[in-house]
This record gives sequence, structure tokens and C-alpha cells, in this order.
Amino acid sequence: MTAKPQRQSAAKPLTRPTSGGTAPAHSGTVVPIGSGKTPMSPTVIAITSGKGGVGKSNIAVGLAIALGRRGARVLCVDADLGLANMDILFGVAPTQTTADLVSGDADIDDVIVEAADNVWLLPGASGQADLADLSDQKRRAFFTAIDSVDDRFDVVVVDTGAGVGSNSVGFAAAAKDIVVVVTGEPTSVADAYGMIKVLCTRCGVRRLHVLVNMVNNHHEGEAVFRRLDNLTSRFLDVRLEFLGVLPRDQGVARAVMRGEPFLRSHPDAPASKALLRIADGLADSSDPDDRQGAIRLFWRKLLRQGGAQ
Ligand SMILES: Nc1ncnc2c1ncn2[C@@H]1O[C@H](COP(=O)(O)OP(=O)(O)OP(=O)(O)O)[C@@H](O)[C@H]1O
Ligand SMILES: [Mg+2]
Repeated sequence: MTAKPQRQSAAKPLTRPTSGGTAPAHSGTVVPIGSGKTPMSPTVIAITSGKGGVGKSNIAVGLAIALGRRGARVLCVDADLGLANMDILFGVAPTQTTADLVSGDADIDDVIVEAADNVWLLPGASGQADLADLSDQKRRAFFTAIDSVDDRFDVVVVDTGAGVGSNSVGFAAAAKDIVVVVTGEPTSVADAYGMIKVLCTRCGVRRLHVLVNMVNNHHEGEAVFRRLDNLTSRFLDVRLEFLGVLPRDQGVARAVMRGEPFLRSHPDAPASKALLRIADGLADSSDPDDRQGAIRLFWRKLLRQGGAQ
């Protein structure tokens, strides 16, 4: 990394706006999610994958920023417990992490940091194997802490770890919207199928969004989606929805090296434009009536499944 991430102060109090949040920074209507007028629970979007390194964390950061620009108040949860890196992608340097929350050394308000306009981050810890295997009691404390701030947010974006481990599966399965990220590599498609199979057969998930990343063009992305869709429709009782395609874009890698979200450092890059369109699609497809109690449902489902075992 060439630039050191800037140190960020602790979170400002997350008072809810009285009407619709700040003005959106890019065109499009303000996200219909939680106008701020009613104490609704936020909608929960989990970003997951079978294979690692397919772009989940960059996409989670980009989606959060894009939704924040639409006026939604967004909480990013770095749920890659033990191997977290959303703080680096946002370019913030939090002083406390979920490790302090879980150990009881910090309150959630001390841990959450402001990461972008309308976006706050609950940063995870890196290199802590014990977090990847939380006890039931600690996991409950973690969920309860997030529950205590849920009325301040319209959207919660959860970045999970890769693969069919119970952490990733548990977090993904409990979200209202699950985005499976896949690339064109046969191994990525095979692993995405494996992840979808586990979500479907073990957790009863019946609907998923698929985002194809690092492709050369839209046509290639559609072909990858069709391959995955053919597989799942033959063997699984699940519906895949094509969320869109992100092109392979050197701007993403360059932004990671600079410790800055690519949407901010390369706003006109093809990947940025594509991600803004994807965020619009995701926000517009959100059913407001479906969101009541979304986060409570999320955590309750997690606890019922034994959560991140
Ligand atoms: N559209 C893209 N074009 C070019 N490079 C990309 C693109 N998306 C992601 N990358 C690169 O892929 C690498 C992995 O990205 P990222 O960390 O977001 O993946 P991940 O799925 O979160 O990984 P992990 O499974 O380890 O958590 C990064 O170095 C990033 O620069
Ligand atoms: Mg990641």
C-alpha cells in the first residue's frame, strides 16, 4: 500500500435525520428505504461468495457508498470475523474493533466509525482466530449490540468471509437480500454453486441475487450467470436473480493500493459506473413493506441457526 489510511475519529452520534438523510450526490431518487420518518428496522444486504478473492469486500464498500449517496443511512458490518479488511478499503483506521465489542471492553458507539457520507463502519479485527469461532454467549452479545443501534440506519451491508464455513453461511442466510459474487473462472462458478447449495438446502434460502465480477463485457457476465442458473435450476429449489456485471477494471486495484474506495477515487471508472447502476437496481427492488423488523428477523434467524457457529 502506498498511502497510509487516515486515522479517523470515533463515530459521531448517529442521530437519525428528520427527513430522508442528506441530498444524494449522484442522480436518482432518494432510496425509498427508511425515509427516516418512521422508526423502521433497516434492510439487511449480505455480500457473500463461494470462492475467496472475488471482490466481495470492494463491492460491499462500493454499494454502501452508493446507497449512502442516495440518502440512505448505511451501517457496514465487517462480518469476515478474524480476517477483516473493510477499514483498509474505506481508508479509515479505527482504534477499536468487534474484538473489543465482543470482549466487553467497548460499547458499540465507541467501535463504529464514520467511513463515508452517510456510511458508518463496524470494523472487524484481523488475525484473531478466536473471533472466527465465537461462543454462543459472545455471539449473542455481538448481535444484541447491533440490535441496539438498528433504528439509526436504513440499510445494513454485511460483508461475509468466503466459503461454506458457518460464519459466512450464517450471516448470509439471515439477511433479507443475499448477493452472491462470482467471477468467470470455473472454480468460482463451482464454488458459488456450492455456497448456494448450502444456503438453499441447509438454511432454506429460496432467492438470491448474483453479481458477476471481473468480466470483460456484459455478454461474458450474462454467460457466467446462465451457467450458474442452469446448474442451480437443475438441482436446487432456488431462484437466482441477475443483479448485474462489474467489469475488470484496473481502477479497483489502484484504489485498493491507495487505501481509498474505488467509487470515490475513480468515480468515472467503468466499475464505479456499473456499481452505481447495481445499487440503484437493488434499492429500487426493495419492498418497503417487507422491511419491517428486517434486522430483528436477521438476528433471530441467526440465533435460531446457532448463528456463526
Ligand atoms: N472489478 C474488479 N476489477 C479489477 N480488480 C478487482 C475487481 N474487483 C475486485 N478486484 C481485486 O480483487 C482483489 C480481491 O478483492 P476483495 O478483497 O474485494 O475480494 P473478497 O472477495 O472480499 O476477498 P476475500 O474472500 O479474501 O474476503 C482485490 O485486490 C481487488 O483489487
Ligand atoms: Mg473480503
